[in-house]
Amino acid sequence: MSQSGAKFISFEGGEGAGKTTQIKCLGEALRHAGHEVVVTREPGGTPDAEIVRDIVLGGEPGRWSAIEEMLLMYTARSQLVRTVIKPALERGAWVLSDRFADSTMVYQGFAGGVPMAEVRALHKLVLGNFNPDITFVMDIAPDSGMERVHSRAEVLNQFEKREAQFYEDTRNAYLDIAKAEPTRCAVINAAQKSQLVARDIMQVIQERTGITL
Ligand code: TMP
Repeated sequence: MSQSGAKFISFEGGEGAGKTTQIKCLGEALRHAGHEVVVTREPGGTPDAEIVRDIVLGGEPGRWSAIEEMLLMYTARSQLVRTVIKPALERGAWVLSDRFADSTMVYQGFAGGVPMAEVRALHKLVLGNFNPDITFVMDIAPDSGMERVHSRAEVLNQFEKREAQFYEDTRNAYLDIAKAEPTRCAVINAAQKSQLVARDIMQVIQERTGITL
């Protein structure tokens, strides 16, 4: 689907794993190397999907059932893929997304209790076999991640107000996905200094795509 070797890369992980910083850093390196880069996020990334984001992230835990959350996430994702991600890849741009479908598998599936087969069936219905070429699983102990979230002093979204066990479950679920899909996923130690995290990410990009950054 993509032209001239452009890749679709997702960044996944628990709260406070530093995804935004690393996306910015990789985006700059790719642009510096002459590539067009589109940065997006999920849920969100289009004006309509950003409205869905406000609806699904706002309020208190329990506002939506896990199935309702999953449907909202896939509604937003469908539009984002159709109107932003696929067109970008088709014209040769790299796409860096802050979260993608693994988030639904982890948050609504593993942690939320929607059976994996149902999450996979919905993915197939909405997106067929479309998935990122590379997924960085930004791994950090939940305590350290939540410390970073609280230090930002922003209003917490409903996923940042859960019990400690929820964050343990999501971390383990990401590591399970990475183990099951080692060709697509790369686990990154996100507890390191951000320059070292960036170095590890660039190394994976170079090894897996052959480009020099
Ligand atoms: P973030 O942009 O700070 O990562 O917040 C997004 C939140 O939404 C995060 O807590 C994970 C959650 N989420 C899901 O539960 N399912 C999904 O499919 C996606 C994309 C995000």
